[in-house]
Amino acid sequence: MIRHDFNLLIVDDEPNIQSGLAKGLAGEVDFVQTSGDAEDALAKFESKPFQIVIVDVRLSRGETGIELMKKMRFLRPHTAVIVITAHGTVEMAVEAMHAGAIDFVLKPLDLNLVRQQVRKAREFYRLLRENQQLRNRLAGAGEIPNIIGGGAAMQDVFHQIRQVARTDATVLIQGESGTGKELVARALHDLSERNGGPFIAVNLGAMPESLLESELFGHEKGAFSGALRQKPGCFEQAAGGTLFLDEVTEMSAKSQVDLLRVLESQRFTRVGGEQLLTSDCRIVSATNRTVDDLIKDGVFREDLFYRLNVIPIEVPPLRGRREDIPLLVEHFLELFCKRHNREMKRLAPAAMQILTAASWPGNVRQLRNMIERIVITHNGDVVHIEELPLELTSSPNSTRHSSRISSLSEAVESFERETIQAALLASNLHRENTAKALGISVRTLHYKMGRYGLH
Ligand SMILES: Nc1ncnc2c1ncn2[C@@H]1O[C@H](COP(=O)(O)OP(=O)(O)OP(=O)(O)O)[C@@H](O)[C@H]1O
Ligand SMILES: [Mg+2]
Repeated sequence: MIRHDFNLLIVDDEPNIQSGLAKGLAGEVDFVQTSGDAEDALAKFESKPFQIVIVDVRLSRGETGIELMKKMRFLRPHTAVIVITAHGTVEMAVEAMHAGAIDFVLKPLDLNLVRQQVRKAREFYRLLRENQQLRNRLAGAGEIPNIIGGGAAMQDVFHQIRQVARTDATVLIQGESGTGKELVARALHDLSERNGGPFIAVNLGAMPESLLESELFGHEKGAFSGALRQKPGCFEQAAGGTLFLDEVTEMSAKSQVDLLRVLESQRFTRVGGEQLLTSDCRIVSATNRTVDDLIKDGVFREDLFYRLNVIPIEVPPLRGRREDIPLLVEHFLELFCKRHNREMKRLAPAAMQILTAASWPGNVRQLRNMIERIVITHNGDVVHIEELPLELTSSPNSTRHSSRISSLSEAVESFERETIQAALLASNLHRENTAKALGISVRTLHYKMGRYGLH
């Protein structure tokens, strides 16, 4: 868990200043550490959370204090920095403030002034935390922002999100493509205590193996041709926040070993570097593949799976939560009508029924894209059946696309549902005629319509 202490790092090459400040400010903070040069300071900063840093501009070795401060604030954007110097110019002060310093103080130091600034920063930090906790509590009470889902299946997912968001547990999100896994990952971050820190997403499926190591762990200047400067990887960038490893099962065997080693040791080095680094980031990963099969086939390492899958969250396919479809349709209609400057539209009840009954192999993404297309191409304010894309209304076989039919009974059911849907359409939703055409009683038809959500 993230600690809530308020820790101070003092960076100055003069030992007198180090000890003077450390003594003078010890009463204001929970922990003080000092450092004499940029490299050592950065290593200390990385190995422990410091909420406030006092840094001298001219350090006898390594980078300037302002450069150092930029790196630190890149790693943890909420870090409060006070810049001190004996050779202040207006330009320097401006640069320091631009880079995010909370104050610029000239030497000889007025200890009282510095103390006041530290107190102010501590108060600011306390308010920030309080604000985050408040937001967390609010979020715990109702819906999850940005994710639509009124039905029991998504409510269950929301419940799991709320339960684990505020822990630092590693989460693996599974679900078909387009079900909203990335939204779940963001919600886990937004509802966590890390929501003031960064959310870094990296798609491991789209990454060639040769780049992956440097992308995840960073590289030193000159580590390979083209490495013109040092670059922190995703692990470092996500410090204090959440690292989202998307399509995690698509990694090569070698990359899986690398990642496993880092997760186990909690240490890594940049490519071409020697310094062992740690990163305080929470790992959330996602896959749209059936991991059990990948493990059985030896494509994905079981030990890595156990590391990542401490808490599993399964996002159900859209056809498994048809009750959410009307809500999603409304939501996307509103979104895209606004975005494309259109009058608000609505769906004729029969058209809504078709959407509710469709199989949606591309899940919410497919629905979203379709609604956007309708908003752009349709002119009236009511959308009728005829104006829906053919793929929804014509073929009774559309569930054949669905990748997850795993048993005969499931296949039979989906064929039955599609057949009933087609017969309903053919008879203009006339139930008696539909039943007659299918050779079943109206009662059986009603029962089956209820069962398949064909209302
Ligand atoms: N419950 C939902 N409410 C609102 N929008 C949603 C919901 N689920 C998904 N979306 C939207 O659908 C699209 C696809 O969602 P997302 O990218 O999270 O899917 P995914 O599961 O990560 O898919 P893939 O496996 O292909 O990466 C996004 O535009 C997302 O905003
Ligand atoms: Mg995704």
